[in-house]
Amino acid sequence: MRMTVIGTGYLGAVHAACMADIGHDVLGVDVDEAKLAALAAGRTPFYEPGLQEILARTVASGNLRFSTSLEEAAAFGEVHFLCVGTPQQPGSAAADMRPIEAVVEGLAPHLHEDCLVVGKSTVPVGTSERLAARIRELAPVGARAEVAWNPEFLSESTAVEDTLRPDRIVVGVESHRAEAILGAVYTTMREAGTPYLVTDRTTAELVKVSANAFLATKVSFVNAMAEVCEATGGDVTTLAKAIGYDPRIGHRFLAAGVGFGGGCLPKDIRAFAARGEELGFGESLRFLRDVDEINMRARQRTVDRARAMLGGRFLGCRVAVLGAAFKSGSDDVRDSPALAVAASIQLQGAHVRVHDPEALENARAAFPCLDYAREPEKACEGAHLVLHLTDWAEYRDLNPAELVTVVDTPRLLDARNTLDLEHWRTHGWDVGALGRRPIAA
Ligand code: UGA
Repeated sequence: MRMTVIGTGYLGAVHAACMADIGHDVLGVDVDEAKLAALAAGRTPFYEPGLQEILARTVASGNLRFSTSLEEAAAFGEVHFLCVGTPQQPGSAAADMRPIEAVVEGLAPHLHEDCLVVGKSTVPVGTSERLAARIRELAPVGARAEVAWNPEFLSESTAVEDTLRPDRIVVGVESHRAEAILGAVYTTMREAGTPYLVTDRTTAELVKVSANAFLATKVSFVNAMAEVCEATGGDVTTLAKAIGYDPRIGHRFLAAGVGFGGGCLPKDIRAFAARGEELGFGESLRFLRDVDEINMRARQRTVDRARAMLGGRFLGCRVAVLGAAFKSGSDDVRDSPALAVAASIQLQGAHVRVHDPEALENARAAFPCLDYAREPEKACEGAHLVLHLTDWAEYRDLNPAELVTVVDTPRLLDARNTLDLEHWRTHGWDVGALGRRPIAA
């Protein structure tokens, strides 16, 4: 099937490459020429495990090409996937819809008969109906361009696997024709037994925002329990492990620490709540404000705990920060809790040196005021405190016996709760963690 994928960010680039890999003929479209040049040469413009191989393979096979032209896209595609970003509006909690609207304005006048426009971006409920009306206004006479909504649930770091072997596919359609087209797009996944839900567009839009709201709530729930544990002397890691064995609760997304960040969960819960206020159901989503506040407090608690471990002040202290990406397996630093904490500590007078295995360049561009190191050991040189802020597997393999010889003072704060603190303690480290009582050296 001939399809276009408009917007080649984390979502679009992965979707385009994976659709080409299962045999579709795909044209990726973006306004960023430099990014398209990299993709067309088979190079991923960002770090995403497994994507490089699929991209190189599908570009070489001719199944995947790129263009900046929406006119060319309209002429080529039977299906057009809208994958452009919907970031938070500056100065507001709502989503910025200008990029997706610009795509519709550019694409619709060129659409030909019988194509299907499929939204994948995370959008405020009601968007698909509005875009469908605008497409009807702009499309050439006789064009039967329809709109469907097919939310994407991929996570950065597992995006390829999530796309090729999703845990479910949801399509929101208004006609049997749209249903049949999307059924054909996802034949491979349907034949593999992937749960496939067909619904209306409004429900499809809501499925996505409510899934992210639920995940954010789960993380903030466990971080609220971390606060309770800190106040009472409990241990949130044991608490999470214990409640997670209940299959109705489950262990995933129950890791207490510095909180959630990235380009999705924080802005999605705000946009959802803002949409609720706009449409008069704000009361139903008021809890999302608490979810957001607990999450922001996790960053502040990390800073406060670090300061306390340093005797109440950052001034003149050297702090090593392990991790800059918003989570491991990604080089994305959008709304990264690690960098928010690092910058706050630096603003309070510490010298902060940051390490990350993949996100250093993005971190440097976003926070040029921080100091950076290419090796974790370099970041730790002369440090009075080592702060663990992104849960990369390689940090779990660090050797505390070696690092103790590099730092000024062997002091560690684990804000992800994934390091073996007993092990570090036996090598002379003074260790602390969020939601757990301090362990004396
Ligand atoms: C999230 C959702 O998980 C995807 O299902 C969704 O498709 C995507 O947003 C999107 O809307 O595009 P992503 O932002 O890539 O995916 O990352 P997550 O794995 O959800 O992690 C989000 C944040 O929560 C990270 O900062 C992570 O470190 C944090 N987190 C996650 C915790 O603090 N604790 C946990 O137990 C789990």
